[in-house]
Amino acid sequence: MPETPNSGVLHVTDDRTGRTYDIPIEDGAIRAINLRQIKVSPDDFGLLSYDPAFLNTASCRSTITYIDGDKGILRYRGYPIEELADHASFLQVAFLILNGELPDKAELEAWTEQVTHHTFVHENIKKFIDGFHYDAHPMGILVSTVAALSTFYRESKGIFDQDKRKLQIVRLIAKMPTIAAFAYRHATGLPYAYPDNELSYAGNFLSMMKKTTEWSYRPDPVLEHALDVLFILHADHEQNCSANAMRAVGSSHADPYMSTAAAAAALYGPLHGGANEQVLNMLQDIGSIDNIPDYIARVKKGELLLMGFGHRVYKNFDPRAKIIKKVADDVFKVTGRNPLLDIALELERIALEDEYFVSRKLYPNVDFYSGIIYQAMGFPVEMFPMLFAIGRTAGWLAQWEEGILDAEQKIARPRQLYVGEWLRHLPSDASSFGDR
Ligand code: CMC
Repeated sequence: MPETPNSGVLHVTDDRTGRTYDIPIEDGAIRAINLRQIKVSPDDFGLLSYDPAFLNTASCRSTITYIDGDKGILRYRGYPIEELADHASFLQVAFLILNGELPDKAELEAWTEQVTHHTFVHENIKKFIDGFHYDAHPMGILVSTVAALSTFYRESKGIFDQDKRKLQIVRLIAKMPTIAAFAYRHATGLPYAYPDNELSYAGNFLSMMKKTTEWSYRPDPVLEHALDVLFILHADHEQNCSANAMRAVGSSHADPYMSTAAAAAALYGPLHGGANEQVLNMLQDIGSIDNIPDYIARVKKGELLLMGFGHRVYKNFDPRAKIIKKVADDVFKVTGRNPLLDIALELERIALEDEYFVSRKLYPNVDFYSGIIYQAMGFPVEMFPMLFAIGRTAGWLAQWEEGILDAEQKIARPRQLYVGEWLRHLPSDASSFGDR
């Protein structure tokens, strides 16, 4: 735990009134609601804190993921990400994130069995996916299909019934790879490949993506392991944009399919999980090392973002990016080196020396190298955000469950600072409305 005292009292003087207030500090934070007592008159609403994009607002107490952005630390339930990536499987990590402890042998067997046996989707899901245009973005298909699951599992509305809740969690973890693979199959015009219960979580996903005429697909163990590690690295990241969407939608007591669809929609954006796709597009646009200086110059002029760089929380390095670089080496031994890697390495070298990036603490994030690995593994670029979503589903569900069971949580409903017209009246002559 941090060594500095993180509780006490904040003494505040309001120079509008000269009054002083004692505001308790708890866990290094003040409760924004305690500002409400600070008023200039009895009918004043009270002081609000203004924090667009939640730059300095804790929206919950959580026991799931710890990040120290300055030190480049990421831990799930207290375990360093490096140790989990080296020694655990994705299903172990998903269990840990969802339940707070790593599974023992019997728990792991039962969990694996449950997830494996829920990988199939209702046959109508195939018809639903068939309805999408051939060039639909797979994330659009994923978001819509996850929402559609809500109509298949009506009992999912019973979110405060533990058994029902746990069943939907298993279903979502199990079906996410199936939906992602089916979306890909639809886009490429290939027949859907059903789940193979003999394979691991990552292996089954590879099978559903790649299987053609063979009776059973056997994934390359190096690629299967690499994908499993990538799922671990993406499994949770505390209160990011999509987790926040999950919690916000969940706070209205929507069912977990609807909440997960909202989270996946938030992930889709290019500033979040869509960045891995954009990194690849950027590297392809740059095309050769010779073009990098021009590209960097345009970034510095504010014309473009260097995709895969920067993070709201990490201001030193992203520990996931370090692990991914190691994974990339293993993958390239099997697939051959992705030629875009040279451009990526040179971009990273320049950016880490350049004053623009150094002064803004912009470092490669998880998305910078993951796309290069996915491409080497043969995934189409548009699939990349879905690969992120598969791993992150465990985190979303843990965040959702923690939120709805937290006695302090209520429906998410921020305040605003109203800066619009104060009061206006319609003209008395109604016929003049059309003059504008
Ligand atoms: N390229 C160039 N300049 C950048 C970049 C970038 N990738 N990221 C931030 N900056 C600049 C930004 O313009 C600003 O400069 P100034 O102070 O002169 O206005 C400064 O750095 C601070 O940036 P910010 O926008 O205030 O930072 P933020 O915390 O609001 O945004 C971010 C974080 C990740 C959205 C942003 O860094 C970004 O857009 N990065 C590119 C997209 C990306 O790689 N996203 C994946 C994030 S990691 C995985 C995930 O969360 O999904």
